[in-house]
Amino acid sequence: PVDMSIELAGVRLQNPVMPASGTFGYGQEYKDVFDLNKLGALVTKSITKEPRYGNELPRIAECTSGMLNSIGLQNPGLEHFREVDLPELRKIYRGPIVANISGFSVDEYREVAAKVDREEQVEILEINISCPNVDHGGSAFGSNPKLSEEITRAVRDVTKKPIFMKLTPNVLDITEIAKACESGGADGISLINNFKAMRIDLKTRKTITSKTYAGLSGPAIRPIAMRMVNEVYHACKLPIIGIGGISCADDVLEMIMAGATGIEIGSANLVDPWTCQKTIDALPKRMKELGIRNLEEIRGVV
Ligand code: DOR
Repeated sequence: PVDMSIELAGVRLQNPVMPASGTFGYGQEYKDVFDLNKLGALVTKSITKEPRYGNELPRIAECTSGMLNSIGLQNPGLEHFREVDLPELRKIYRGPIVANISGFSVDEYREVAAKVDREEQVEILEINISCPNVDHGGSAFGSNPKLSEEITRAVRDVTKKPIFMKLTPNVLDITEIAKACESGGADGISLINNFKAMRIDLKTRKTITSKTYAGLSGPAIRPIAMRMVNEVYHACKLPIIGIGGISCADDVLEMIMAGATGIEIGSANLVDPWTCQKTIDALPKRMKELGIRNLEEIRGVV
């Protein structure tokens, strides 16, 4: 029998497959689709201190090999998350919860992290410093090494839970940012968030998303994500959650060979809501066929 389990900064996961933040809400929409307890862990949609409506519709556009989104961090806010979403999620899901948080200043990250730290249900914090769809924050943090380190340190100050910094690919040198987060006291790196992008509707002569600029995700970005994971794997000692265009067991294994410990499935959930389950179910068979007994033995082989 093959062993699919992994250890992520001290947390044991039965398999490496997690839904990517923002593509799975707080679990409710998927609970009647498949058994959530099959997941390695469940990552919740970014929460901010205050509730947010996000950007105006439309804010999703399909394109060849992927999709664009410009959601703009729509979320019910920290208090609603703590009082409603988290307890409701716990009723339907027993595994590890990764809470993703975002903010518009260093202080906001610190304050939200401090409150989420009190939630027993949350095992890992994923800190989104890479949202491309908001002004005055988001990827502006994650493309600046000093700010990335500062936010990491601020969060580190208020929690002993493992923190994974979620990075943007929209930088010249991803290893510089990852190393800054490592210096700030991160326990791991999640990468990548999406790429700066846009699409235009020929009839209206306007961009398809109401906000001019959006972010590209999906299969189109998978080889780039693979490379960034590999570069960070060789530059830092931190465990990595690999994200970007993963949609099947082979993609998972490839990402782990590039250096990832865990992986997140994002856009594919929106194409086929069973993607996580299908991937988890297919993994042991593919491992067996490829002569892989456990995931440790293939991590970072390249
Ligand atoms: O693709 C994304 N969309 N990444 C983020 O970090 C945030 C999200 C949004 O709400 O716009």
